[in-house]
This record gives sequence, structure tokens and C-alpha cells, in this order.
Amino acid sequence: MSLTRTLALGAGMASLMLSAAWAEGLQGKVIGFSQIGSESGWRAAETSVTKSEAEARGVDLKFADAQQKQENQIKAIRGFIAQGVDAILVAPVVATGWEEVLTEAKEASIPVVLLDRGIEAPEDLYLTSVASDQVKEGRVAAEWLVGSVADKDCNVVELQGTVGSSPAINRKQGFEEGIAGHDNIRITRSQTGDFTRAKGKEVMEGFLKAEGGGASICAVYAHNDDMAVGAIQAIKDAGLKPGSDILVVSIDAVPDIFAAMVAGEANATVELTPNMAGPAFDALDAYLNAGTMPEKFIITESKLYTPADDPQGEYDRRKGLGY
Ligand code: AHR
Repeated sequence: MSLTRTLALGAGMASLMLSAAWAEGLQGKVIGFSQIGSESGWRAAETSVTKSEAEARGVDLKFADAQQKQENQIKAIRGFIAQGVDAILVAPVVATGWEEVLTEAKEASIPVVLLDRGIEAPEDLYLTSVASDQVKEGRVAAEWLVGSVADKDCNVVELQGTVGSSPAINRKQGFEEGIAGHDNIRITRSQTGDFTRAKGKEVMEGFLKAEGGGASICAVYAHNDDMAVGAIQAIKDAGLKPGSDILVVSIDAVPDIFAAMVAGEANATVELTPNMAGPAFDALDAYLNAGTMPEKFIITESKLYTPADDPQGEYDRRKGLGY
């Protein structure tokens, strides 16, 4: 056989093998997923969407719930490395402290994809990050408030997410940027509610007490809907009307916030899709099967929803998705 023919056959074989791998997708791949926990409705939906995306693609997903603790996530990632998984997904609970374990994954040639939260670490330690622009989310929430209150004086109380997490840091920054230059709007109190409904309620109760029963509060800005739902309950318990006496703006777009909008008790939310796994698996498919490097940051949409956007319909559309 001539050298040209041998080379041509070799090239043909290689491209056949490549398209076979493409056709196979992630079928049979073992992928570890270190999830933060189940602090919010949004988190539950992300878990459920990731599991069904994995099933649809034939991925053997090894799921580890870290119960809100970074040390558990580090342990889980080390376990995935020891098992020799094909890839790792991690939703990092906080932004710092990842370098060592991600270096171990890199040394084992296991690609890591970050889901929904960012980290402060060299970018070569992960393949890609699938997340929203969290600064933008805060800005969108603030812009809604600026437009709603116009020139009226407005004292805002803020319920922050988990201390040290990228959404808590960035959503705070974005909101502050959004109200900058509007001197009638100011954040008067700000505390963490840890992204949970129970903590959101408890912290809001404290804010209401400290603010003369709530008379001086114009709006609550919550870094997620679950804390907003907790705050709504606290406002009602204090004898005030959420949605009118105190405006409520938050982030996630979970079904319960749309139910609150239908009841006139919430005013705006910024959507965060729970489907981070779809783009993550697509990126891994292209990388593992064809060596294609994905974009470093895959950014999901941040759409604003208000009661003008068919909250009942939005509730119905989301309620079966695992929230
Ligand atoms: O990282 C995304 C945030 O984490 C969601 O907005 C919040 O609900 C969750 O707990």
C-alpha cells in the first residue's frame, strides 16, 4: 500500500473515530458532582435538572451533597479524583480556598467545571465556569427599584446570601452600583440570611424591630427569592403589606416568588436558570470527545420579571421542575 493511501486511510479512521465519539456524547462517562446542599428552592431545582440532564445523556453521575460545608466539597472532590472520574462538576459554596484541591484534579488530568458560583483562583485550574453575571443581577434589581420609586425617599434593607460566596459579594456590588447617584435611595441595614427562607424571615424580623416596626423601610432587597419569601412572612406578621407597604425585590425566579406576585406580595425578581448542567455537559462533550476548549465563562441570562409578566403562567411553567 502506498504511503499516501496509508495516510489517507489513517486520517479517515481518525475522523471516523472522532465522529463515533461525538455520536456517543457523554454516554458511559463517570462525572462527579459536588453540590453545595439544599439551602434554597433554586438549589433543589439545579440538583434535579443536573440529575435529569445526566440521565438523558447516559452519564453515570456521582452526586455528593456538601451540606453547605466547603470541607465536605473538598473531601468529595478528592474522592472523585481517587475514583478516576472523567470530569468533575462543582458548585463552590464560597469563593476562596480551592487552589490546592483543584491543582490535585489538574495533576490527575480531570477537567473541572464550576457551576453557578465563581472562585478566586487561577483560571487554568478549571475548564470552564457556567454561571450568571451576578453583578448584573444586582444591577438589574437596583434599576427596577430606581425606576419604581422615582424621586421618593427609599430606605432599603438588604438580605445578603452566604458570607464569602460569589453571589453574595457580586449581587451586593451590583445593587450598590445600580443605586449609585440616586441619593434618595440608600441601604440602611444589611445582614446575611444565608440564602435560606428561615434565616431570611429571622433577619427581617430583626430589621422590622430595629426600624420602628417597619415604618421607615421602603424596600427589601434579598439576594435570593427564598430569603424574600421569608421576609414577606415577617412583614405580614408585623401587620404590614409586603409588595405595597414594603417593596420586595429579589433574585432567582422560583415558583414561590411568582405565587407571591400573584398575591400582590412581591414586586420583582431576576431570573437565574437552574439549568447550568446543560451547557456544562455540552462543554465537556466537546472537550472530552474532540479536545475543543470551551469559553472560559459561559454566562446565563438575567431577565427581570414583575407582576406584568404573567406571574401565574410563570408559576405554572416552573412548578414541575424540582424547585
Ligand atoms: O449560587 C446561586 C444561588 O445559590 C441562588 O441564587 C440561591 O438561591 C442559591 O442558594
